[in-house]
Amino acid sequence: MVDVIGQYKRYQDELDSAILSVVRSGAYINGPAVKRFEREMAEYLQVPHAIACASGTDALQIALMAIGVKPGDEIITTPFTFVATTETIALLGAKPIYADIDPKTFNIDPEKIAEKISPRTKAILPVHIFGQPCNISSIKEIADAHHVYLIEDAAQAVGASWQGKKVCGFGDISSISFYPSKNLGAFGDGGMITAANDELADTLRSIANHGASKTYFHDRLGVNSRLDSIQAAILSVKLKYLDAWNARRREIADIYTKIFAIHSDSIQTPFVHPDAEPIWHQYSIIISNRDRVMATLKAEGIPTNIYYPVPLHLQPAYHSYGGKNGDYPNTEFASAHILSLPMHSEMTNDEATYIAETTIHHIQNAAQ
Ligand SMILES: Cc1ncc(COP(=O)(O)O)c(C=O)c1O
Repeated sequence: MVDVIGQYKRYQDELDSAILSVVRSGAYINGPAVKRFEREMAEYLQVPHAIACASGTDALQIALMAIGVKPGDEIITTPFTFVATTETIALLGAKPIYADIDPKTFNIDPEKIAEKISPRTKAILPVHIFGQPCNISSIKEIADAHHVYLIEDAAQAVGASWQGKKVCGFGDISSISFYPSKNLGAFGDGGMITAANDELADTLRSIANHGASKTYFHDRLGVNSRLDSIQAAILSVKLKYLDAWNARRREIADIYTKIFAIHSDSIQTPFVHPDAEPIWHQYSIIISNRDRVMATLKAEGIPTNIYYPVPLHLQPAYHSYGGKNGDYPNTEFASAHILSLPMHSEMTNDEATYIAETTIHHIQNAAQ
């Protein structure tokens, strides 16, 4: 699905020397490499503050802690995402309140969010799923009108834009993941939180550092969540190439979409809203006979994946919130029919063409 080794080899000299310089400096924790990467990310995303942490999951938890989420609070989010989005809400004793997705983009539907606002709503937590920005300007209007926080889960969407502005720049806080397969991926775990104002930034930074204002003085409950200096140095190198990699992903997506276009009766391709500039973390199609097509592609050596096979409201771990089949039909339909194709910056045009044509062939066979 991704080619992390191929990408490493292309930039090996630069990456090796960045790693070695941290090793030789001895500044392994919160060293200059971390500070530099935070500055570079704030500038890249055009946000006032970017705070490195240990993972995208930590970024979400720290964000929710910073806005004071407590038991009884409700957080409106999507049931069609990676579990971390719901998990962190639940860990803090709050309740995930789901709003169904738009079936064309797989992103949370703003109209469904509006229906779920209650006096207990503390925040809206949309996800820019698959690197496709959600309708974040409409969601921000809802959050502002109801005076609730807006937290963007941009784990999959670093570099994507909505109305010409990068995601992470709309919410009070946003969270990012540098998991190795992400468009901007570390060589291990890593994450980041961005903040729209100084006060939130101070709180986030303190929570990520054991709730300390200065060493050994603890004002609030915190966690230990740091980005290693080595990962920061790697990510600084990679950030320089991110826009070019994302542009390459766009070319691959265009190849897929053009080839699939003449089969629109049997393949639903991702819809791109005119205000959205996606970064194609995943390229996901909707088809019938999904599991059969997936198995036959695998037999030919073409890897595919299902993001996400079980919607979060139907996961056993979250049964206590009362979710049942039929609650979020668009999400349930997507889970049953979605298939993500290989997508990465190292893919050639010939490989993309071969994957698309082979996929069509197997879809047609499966229909017979
Ligand atoms: C939408 C979303 N949120 C949060 C996370 C959590 O990020 P991490 O794996 O870095 O903890 C991920 C990671 O896959 C994700 O896709």
